[in-house]
Amino acid sequence: MVIKKREERKDLKKMILLNPGPVCTSERVRNALLRGDMCHREREFSEILDRVRKKILEAFSPNGEFTTAIITGSGTASLEAGVCSSVSEGKKLLVIDNGVYGDRIARIASAYKINKEILKFDWLEQPDIARIEETLSKDEDIEVVAMVHHETTTGLLNPVHRIGEITRRYKRTFLVDSVSGLGGEEIDLVNDNVDICIGSANKCIQGLPGLSFVLIKRAGVDRLRNIPARSLYFNLISQLDEQEQRSECSFTPSVHTFFAFDEALEELLEEGVSNRIKRYRNASGFLRNEFKDLHLRFILPVDLRSNTITGLYLPNNMAYADLHDELKERGFVIYAGQGQLNAKIFRIANMGELSMQDLEEFIKNFKDVINHVETVSS
Ligand SMILES: Cc1ncc(COP(=O)(O)O)c(C=O)c1O
Repeated sequence: MVIKKREERKDLKKMILLNPGPVCTSERVRNALLRGDMCHREREFSEILDRVRKKILEAFSPNGEFTTAIITGSGTASLEAGVCSSVSEGKKLLVIDNGVYGDRIARIASAYKINKEILKFDWLEQPDIARIEETLSKDEDIEVVAMVHHETTTGLLNPVHRIGEITRRYKRTFLVDSVSGLGGEEIDLVNDNVDICIGSANKCIQGLPGLSFVLIKRAGVDRLRNIPARSLYFNLISQLDEQEQRSECSFTPSVHTFFAFDEALEELLEEGVSNRIKRYRNASGFLRNEFKDLHLRFILPVDLRSNTITGLYLPNNMAYADLHDELKERGFVIYAGQGQLNAKIFRIANMGELSMQDLEEFIKNFKDVINHVETVSS
C-alpha cells in the first residue's frame, strides 16, 4: 500500500533535509536574514564580526588558545585558505586520504603546486596509524599533516586524537578538516593537538550556507606569517589580521549570512555544544535502531560511525533514484553515495534543526517507500 503523498510537503519550506548540509535551520536563524541592509565598512558590521568570532571561539576554544578567521565562501573556501597558507616553500604536506574530502585536500595542494605526500586508505576503514608515523619519521620535509575529522563520504570518524599525538611528537603542524564535525562530534582542539581546524556555518552549527571559518592555534600564527602568500582571497594571515586587528573583512563579506550565523551560534551556545552532540547522537541512535529492525546493511561497523551520518547499502533491487524521488515526494531529502560508493549506498544525515517527530515521520514514510518500491520492481 502506498500512503498518500502529503501535498504540503511539496512546499520546499517544509522539506526535511536529511543530507549533510545545508541543513534545516530554525525560524530564528532564517529570520535573522531580515535584520536589514548594512554596509560592511560600518561600525555595526564590525560589532557583528567581533561577536561572531567570539562565539565561534567560545564554542570551540573556550580557554583562549585559538583565534579564528571567517571566510565568505563554503567549507572548501576555508579548507583552501588553511592548506594554501600553512605549508612553507620547499616543505611538504602529508594528506591522509580515506574519502572524497581527504582527496579534496590533496586536490587543493595540487592546485597550488604544494609538494605533497598522499597516504590513501580504504574508505570504510580508519587510516593505518603505524604507516602514518613511519612516513613522518622518514621525511623531515613534511611540515603539515592534514586529515578529515568526520569523513562525510561515509560517516566515518577518523582518529584525530591519535594522529595529533603523533604530529605533536614529531613537531609537525596538524590541520584538521572538521567541516562536518564541529558541533556534532567530540573534538578538543588543545588536547587533540590540532593546530589548524576548518569549520562551516551550515552543517552541525545550523547556520546558512556561505560562511566558513578557520580556527588557528595562537602559538602557530607567527609561523604562518613567514609563508609567502599563494592566494589573495584565501590568504589566511591577511584575513586574520584584518579581522583581529581592524574588526573588518578583507573583502565584501556575506553580511546577511553573518546575521544568520550570529543567531545560529547563539542557539548553539544556548543549547551547549555537548548537548548538541548528545541530541545528534540520540537522533542517529533512533534511526539506526529502526534501520536495524528493517534488516538494512550498514556500511560501517558501530565503532567507526559518527553521530550524524548513517551510510546504508541500498536494499536489493532498489535504485537510489527511486528511493530518493519517492521520499522527496513525501517531503524528505536523502543523500546519495559518492565516488566508488555511488551506485551501492545511500546516506541519511541527522544534522540540523530536526525534531524526533520529524525523524519518526521519516521512518514511517521510509518503511512505506521501501515496501512500495520493492513491490513495484518485483
Ligand atoms: C568533511 C568536509 N570537508 C569539506 C567539505 C566541503 O564543504 P563545502 O561543500 O561547503 O565547500 C564538506 C562538504 O560536505 C565536508 O563534508
